[in-house]
Amino acid sequence: MHGWPSMAAVYEKQNRSIELNVGGTLIAGPAKGALKGRVTVPGDKSMSHRAVMLASLADGITEIHGFLPGEDNLATAQMFVDMGVTIEWLNDEKTSLRVHGVGLHGLKEPTKMLDAGNSGTCVRLMAGVLAGQDFPVTMTGDASLCKRPMKRVVDPIRRMGATVGDGGNLLPITIQGGSLKAIHHVSEVASAQVKSCVLLAGLFAEGETTVKEPRPTRDHTERMLPLFGQGVEVDAEGVIHLSPVGRLTAPKEPVYIPADPSSATFFAVAASLVAGSDVTLERIGMNPLRNGWSRILADMSGSLSLENEDLVGRESVADIHVLATKLKGINVNPADVPDAIDEFPVLFAAASLAEGEFLLTEAEELRVKESDRIAVMAKALIAAGAEIEEFPDGARIIGGTLKGDCTVDAEGDHRIAMAMAVAAQCAEHEMTIENAAAIATSFPSFVPLAQQLGMNVRWEG
Ligand code: S3P
Repeated sequence: MHGWPSMAAVYEKQNRSIELNVGGTLIAGPAKGALKGRVTVPGDKSMSHRAVMLASLADGITEIHGFLPGEDNLATAQMFVDMGVTIEWLNDEKTSLRVHGVGLHGLKEPTKMLDAGNSGTCVRLMAGVLAGQDFPVTMTGDASLCKRPMKRVVDPIRRMGATVGDGGNLLPITIQGGSLKAIHHVSEVASAQVKSCVLLAGLFAEGETTVKEPRPTRDHTERMLPLFGQGVEVDAEGVIHLSPVGRLTAPKEPVYIPADPSSATFFAVAASLVAGSDVTLERIGMNPLRNGWSRILADMSGSLSLENEDLVGRESVADIHVLATKLKGINVNPADVPDAIDEFPVLFAAASLAEGEFLLTEAEELRVKESDRIAVMAKALIAAGAEIEEFPDGARIIGGTLKGDCTVDAEGDHRIAMAMAVAAQCAEHEMTIENAAAIATSFPSFVPLAQQLGMNVRWEG
């Protein structure tokens, strides 16, 4: 079909991306003293993706501040540039930008394959956007992303009328969109990516699109769409309804993105663990569907207090003051799992240094993240001296001490690398964490900010 790249081009591209997924060695721990200070972690990853997507599809110019300049979000921005959107970066750090939206029907057929890099959110939400375009587009990603399931988004957009080439469960996938009809989607997985894909496709569909989830997931898409003039309703049963108004309109006021709670959790756990620590994390997103980590850490006897609570757009933020305490293991309430889904690697690190048993179940989604996070964390923590029993959907961790004095493999997963750097702060000896370069996908300034607080972590060499 016209415009579709050859498989040779697909594989050539994949090989290049595969190389980007490895390398980078961290040397971490033990901490030399208490962690102290105030830091502002970078902008929220989920909201940064959504802001650049909605701004690109809107009529008019949107200014965004607090954008996360991680590789994942830059991949999303690049996809829109590849489809004819002009993005002006307003500072060298790429945290502020002006997006010249082209409207819902203004994207142009790209001349090359679109590369999502390591980002599941990019590729899955873009599947919804591309379902509405009447030209074919192929998306691929790096080695990790090419192993992750795509059927969960391919099935609903096919039902809406998009054509997706070949099997469609694994990248690369080619989507030929066009005239869509609305569907009532009942999702089998609690996934904000699936929900958002369907809602974004719903912008282009005829009729009202609805999504029902097995458990509520982060609702940033639902909160951000109204800023662009598109209402979203949630009924008493928690079903989300979107009746497309036919256009998105650039907001008059800039879109401000709160600091990322998923990044803040690394420092909150480190400060909880290292004796005598006193750390404040500024203007962190406090969306209740994201702050499961703070409920879990508080249940583990963490000392967290909120200061300066505020609203940014439709999202709440607060400064979080963390003091070191003696953490205890808990049984994680399965209802909290989606609200803390990205934070389990570092919560596993906390659990391995806590007193007593920590039990996590109903978290099988962890096995299909950037890595199999149950297996990869268990392997790394066991190498460091922890006692862990894996289950298909979770793990039991018997808290105690960590010896360290080991080399562990983050397997190209940013959150594993940072979680192990946190664990190392309380280990008896230093740890070497290999294949940690992917930290740049979500938290490029992790090492300097960690050092600013007093964590003992550095890049090798
Ligand atoms: C995200 C949703 C989550 C999360 C990911 C970001 C989002 O994935 O793990 O890091 O921005 O929608 P699932 O929705 O697949 O659980």
